[in-house]
Amino acid sequence: MILHQPVPKDLVEVFAHLLVEHIGIFYQKERWNELEKKMVKIMGHYHFNDPTAFIKWLNEKSLTHERMIQLAKFLTVGETYFFREPKIFNALQSNIFPLLLKKHAKDKQLRIWSAGCCTGEEPYSLAMTLHQMIPDWDAWKIEILATDINNEYLNIAKEGVYRSWSLRSTPQNMIDLYFSKNKNSTFSINPQIKKYVTFEYLNLMDGWFPSPLNHTSNLDLIFCHNVFIYFSLEKIETVTSKFINCLNDWGLLSVSSVELSTIKEKFFTSHNFSGAYFFKKMPVKKEIIPKKENVVKQAMALPEDLYEGCLNLKKNKNYGEASEKLKSFLILKKNDPAFIKKYIKEVLLYTDLCANQGQLNEALSWVDRVLEVEKNNPIPFYVKSVILHFLGDNSAGIRTLKNAIALKPNFIAAVFLLGILEKEELNEDLANEYFKKALDLVQDLPDDLFLMGMESVTVAQLKTHLEHLERHFDRAKAPGAND
Ligand SMILES: C[S@@+](CC[C@H](N)C(=O)[O-])C[C@H]1O[C@@H](n2cnc3c(N)ncnc32)[C@H](O)[C@@H]1O
Repeated sequence: MILHQPVPKDLVEVFAHLLVEHIGIFYQKERWNELEKKMVKIMGHYHFNDPTAFIKWLNEKSLTHERMIQLAKFLTVGETYFFREPKIFNALQSNIFPLLLKKHAKDKQLRIWSAGCCTGEEPYSLAMTLHQMIPDWDAWKIEILATDINNEYLNIAKEGVYRSWSLRSTPQNMIDLYFSKNKNSTFSINPQIKKYVTFEYLNLMDGWFPSPLNHTSNLDLIFCHNVFIYFSLEKIETVTSKFINCLNDWGLLSVSSVELSTIKEKFFTSHNFSGAYFFKKMPVKKEIIPKKENVVKQAMALPEDLYEGCLNLKKNKNYGEASEKLKSFLILKKNDPAFIKKYIKEVLLYTDLCANQGQLNEALSWVDRVLEVEKNNPIPFYVKSVILHFLGDNSAGIRTLKNAIALKPNFIAAVFLLGILEKEELNEDLANEYFKKALDLVQDLPDDLFLMGMESVTVAQLKTHLEHLERHFDRAKAPGAND
């Protein structure tokens, strides 16, 4: 069905507003003619010839978000290729990665996020560059998370098969090392690289980050190239102010050279590596800390104040200072079960702070102390499973979560995390059962509520995410889906 009359300007404006709010994509007034043409095309696709009915359909409560995401595929551009912006990859090789590898020489962990990864060329290029540089690769835990709003792109990325056009900027030695040529002249990414990149759906306008649940915290590098070109400055600020909390101190953000001017220096300082600019997160300025003995004295006398004070520091992302203060108090009697039982709240906060700073073994040892004295409390079991997930021990994480759920069957965050861990273990059916259960549990809760164990996620966000997972799963299960 084709619409022959022009779309009224006020409806184009409503459409433009919906796009910014739900997917961040911004059409300036001067481009509304172009947007109107797109709107007509999309209406045709969904069999609408009345723009008012179309807008009403998009605005239908509860479905708006999912429908806007479907629209993303008509409005986003999937242009990408391997080793795009060679200047950036040269800087990664000569400056950035050597610094990060030195920084992580002890824990041998690196965490990278390619946000708006499209069909996967960008995160695979990052994996190849790193692989070339690390001689003892197997000793390292390299995690590259790659996310996009468009599931069709993500499916191509997961397949990892490309036409030669995608390799137009790829050095020949990289092609020889990391691709195999197929009979039909396409190129497949080698499995050794593929397994280090995890592809997930995430809408930057709405997805929750940072969160250990979706691997968007404690990152060393965020790559977000050629995504902000579509966003309004206001939405770019919203996203970058969340990115900063996803990064470790001194962590880096990279955007394409045409997007450099959109990044506000109030969040980052910019650094130039032979013409390639990266934005560095500066650590939060510490308050002057009183001498250690004084902290201990104060802490011993005023644990309540200490807890509240540290909670505030945590809210301001001042994890280092908060954990130092708590540790001075807790360390003295760390092996005294009566003391641990009395200060469970403080120990769990300390555990959380350690996990937020990537000190996972320290976090694990403290949550285990709690579990020794508190066997009927589901929270420490949940906290432990998050840490185990972070440490990559999903089987132990699943066992621990089952303890949490046995104690509190409607513990939504635990049910949801169980779904994630089963999904990562490739138990798709089981994962979907847990996602459906979590969806049932959130169904009647108020949208703006924050759930226990998922403090940065509202019920509305979790609902949208679970509905998305459910639809994705149902589509994958539909007859003929894999034909
Ligand atoms: C031009 S591609 C960039 C691909 C790659 N980063 C590069 O520079 O080659 C832009 C990508 O951003 C994605 N995108 C657009 N809006 C998004 C949003 N709100 N959340 C997540 N991804 C989004 C699109 O689906 C598309 O894959």
